[in-house]
Amino acid sequence: MVERQHWHPVAAAEAVAAQPLAVRLLEEDLVLWRDAAGVLHAWPDRCPHRGAKLSMGRIVDDRIECPYHGWQFAPSGRCVHVPALPAFTPPATHCVPSFEAREAHGLAWVRLAGGDTDLPAFAAEDDARLRKLNCGPYVVETSAPRLVENFLDLSHFAFVHEGWLGARTATAIDAYAVEELPTGLRATGCKAWQPQSNLHSTAPAQVEYTYEVTGPYTAVLTKIPEAGSVAVADWRESIALFIAPVAPERSVAWFRLAVADFDSPDDKLRAFQDTIFRQDQPVLESQSPRRLPLDLRAELHTAADRASSAYRRYLSRLGITFGAC
Ligand code: FES
Ligand code: CO
Repeated sequence: MVERQHWHPVAAAEAVAAQPLAVRLLEEDLVLWRDAAGVLHAWPDRCPHRGAKLSMGRIVDDRIECPYHGWQFAPSGRCVHVPALPAFTPPATHCVPSFEAREAHGLAWVRLAGGDTDLPAFAAEDDARLRKLNCGPYVVETSAPRLVENFLDLSHFAFVHEGWLGARTATAIDAYAVEELPTGLRATGCKAWQPQSNLHSTAPAQVEYTYEVTGPYTAVLTKIPEAGSVAVADWRESIALFIAPVAPERSVAWFRLAVADFDSPDDKLRAFQDTIFRQDQPVLESQSPRRLPLDLRAELHTAADRASSAYRRYLSRLGITFGAC
């Protein structure tokens, strides 16, 4: 499975704290934990002794202690203590294998198989003029690719987000450009007439978007309002969608906001995203099939769907099968 060679988000970084955390990725159970040096570890959630879930254990003295017979595993994965045999020194073969784990964008990321893939790019992350904030997790009963397509889709705004991101009086989608890239795609010049494009909108505005797919299950949008429509000269906002493909038809999603607003409380910014996402969710979960058809003949496409057809071609090129059909 080529998707195992990509980095995927699995939890909010701050959720990996004093106790082991169970997460699921690509239908595998993992345990995440943080050692005394603050380093993140991702292991199979299975004790090599009798298969109990390590996530049900606890962290003691910088080790994970299995809930069943109390074997203790050091950050290296090596078993260092077997309580039933206190004098026994376990050999190197008594160990838990580990996956690569990293922290970025406020999330814990895991790669299940080796590869030369990088963490998905998010240029706004390093822009000190923008405030970063995560929204989610949103648990959705659909595939990760259906979620990415929803994120790239402008023509649903007038219907699903009527009065917020779109209006039935302005449904036409102007032609926009799509560039296919080795790491995904970029769609530019995507315009939408939006009654309430963000928390601070006081009047409808024509908003221009750039969309980028940055990995099989990640995408970034950047909003560029038309000149004169907002007070701040170089106002812009970037939102990344990061998705954990949990099962072929179940996903966990986060949005990472990079916004110029440093004043609004976190809860208020999150509430806006929650509202928008709750509008998408029922439609997303109603789509059939829940897996994304990569055969372009399986569904109908128009010029307004160029970004989504390019995304399907990208997944086919990569050989992605998880969440696709
Ligand atoms: Fe983990 Fe026995 S199953 S210590
Ligand atoms: Co939507």
